Amino acid sequence: MKKDATIVVSGAQPTGELHIGNWAGSLRNWLALQDAHPERCWFFIADYHAMTIAYDPKEMQHRILDLAASLLALGLDPKKSTLFVQSDVPEVVELGWIFNTVTPVAEMERMTQYKDKAERQEKNINMGLMDYPVLQAADILIYGGNAVPVGQDQVQHVETTRVIARNFNKRFGNVFPEAKELLTETPKIMSLTEPTKKMSKSHGPKSYLALDDEPEDILKKLKGVPTEPSGTITDALLKTEAYAGVALLLDLIELCDGKDARKEAIASQPVKYGDLKKRAAEAVAGRFADYRAKKKELMKNPDRIRMVLASGGAKARAVAKQTMDTVLRATGLR
Ligand code: TRP
Repeated sequence: MKKDATIVVSGAQPTGELHIGNWAGSLRNWLALQDAHPERCWFFIADYHAMTIAYDPKEMQHRILDLAASLLALGLDPKKSTLFVQSDVPEVVELGWIFNTVTPVAEMERMTQYKDKAERQEKNINMGLMDYPVLQAADILIYGGNAVPVGQDQVQHVETTRVIARNFNKRFGNVFPEAKELLTETPKIMSLTEPTKKMSKSHGPKSYLALDDEPEDILKKLKGVPTEPSGTITDALLKTEAYAGVALLLDLIELCDGKDARKEAIASQPVKYGDLKKRAAEAVAGRFADYRAKKKELMKNPDRIRMVLASGGAKARAVAKQTMDTVLRATGLR
């Protein structure tokens, strides 16, 4: 396996709509990376991982297609990146099993995301939920991945990937590289309804901006962002809880327009928050106008999307099989 060059690997779960926080925190980085490292990027739809949360099997195929269409509409280019569905490469589960045997249980028990999810789905604390990071390590390492664009919430899992690679290499010889997380420099995008918390679909449909939202939905949702009564803005005030909603509106403008919205707001006080919300809504709607059009176009022809995924899957599987050949020999199973 080549250890000198960058190999980018990342996945996204098909759990329904993408929101602007997903885009700002990691997907945006995927697109930058495919330009920086064309033909060295592996991006997949993590359907195996999505099974750890309750779901309706009848919806899964649609969710996969929808996520693929979203990624393509955002600009993911199958000529530069390999886009595929995780379960089209079943070897990753095989490698996950082998990784289980070099993973300390204590490493899994300390995972923050596991603890959070276990708390949120008390009635469904399945083994998959706990084993999730081990499969993630297999996802990354089966393609020799050493650069993993993810959001902050996944950093611990990439650390675990390094632990697993080290343990494997120590026991069976030097097969896997050290994987590093690549974070986007971006303010955390907060919830529209509770702007002291991170944007997440779990806070309800009014709390996030879906990438597919039409301009009128965006405006409606942004009108609901809590602000404060004075209209006075300073850098210090923006850091306070009372201004969390105002800071979010400014962050959205900066994210989508690339303008220094904070400086502008501070220079034109008192700020009318109704106007600021309209401005933010226009910035978001404008930023994703092309995306929305492309996505609608793509969804008219699901077979074309399926073909992209099938060809990506075949490419990924060929590499995965090579890695498994090395792994099976190294572990004495062949
Ligand atoms: N756990 C990631 C998430 O929920 C998805 C994922 C699965 C992933 N396997 C991966 C991300 C491998 C990066 C690399 O967002």
